[in-house]
Amino acid sequence: MQKTILITGGAGYIGSHAVKLLLEHHCKIVVFDNLSNGYRQAITQLESIGEIKFIKGDLRYPAEIDHVFETEKINAVMHFAAQCSVDESMKHPEVYFDNNTIGTYNLLEAMRKSSADILTTIPSVHTIY
Ligand SMILES: NC(=O)c1ccc[n+]([C@@H]2O[C@H](COP(=O)([O-])OP(=O)(O)OC[C@H]3O[C@@H](n4cnc5c(N)ncnc54)[C@H](O)[C@@H]3O)[C@@H](O)[C@H]2O)c1
Repeated sequence: MQKTILITGGAGYIGSHAVKLLLEHHCKIVVFDNLSNGYRQAITQLESIGEIKFIKGDLRYPAEIDHVFETEKINAVMHFAAQCSVDESMKHPEVYFDNNTIGTYNLLEAMRKSSADILTTIPSVHTIY
């Protein structure tokens, strides 16, 4: 059975490469990205490879990520949505805490509420210094 994988930050650098690889392995992909540092075109270019749905949304707002789990049957999550400039995080730690820490919390809460059997990977500790 084809698996549906949610990729947060899928329009960004690492996320879009993960999208491409998973499409090549015949997964169905849902990308959730607020486009603060990603490109819609990166997703458009991958649409010829396989089934991909783009949802513009922001992890800082729980309703937006909750809605994804209410409307899509997600089997696994790969979480790449974060800000990752170390320099900027030193200057504005509160912005990074809000985006990366609260964003990740909101994602995990949405998964918990959906009570689906979901595998998750968080590829690195997001930039919080
Ligand atoms: N680039 C690297 O070499 C590298 C190496 C190791 C780990 N990482 C980690 O991988 C992750 C992604 O890094 P990247 O280089 O692809 O960054 P990136 O900025 O290219 O991609 C991040 C994506 O997340 C989106 N995003 C940010 N905040 C969001 C939010 N609140 N809601 C929804 N979408 C949001 C952005 O629009 C962007 O498309 C980060 O956690 C980073 O620390 C990156």
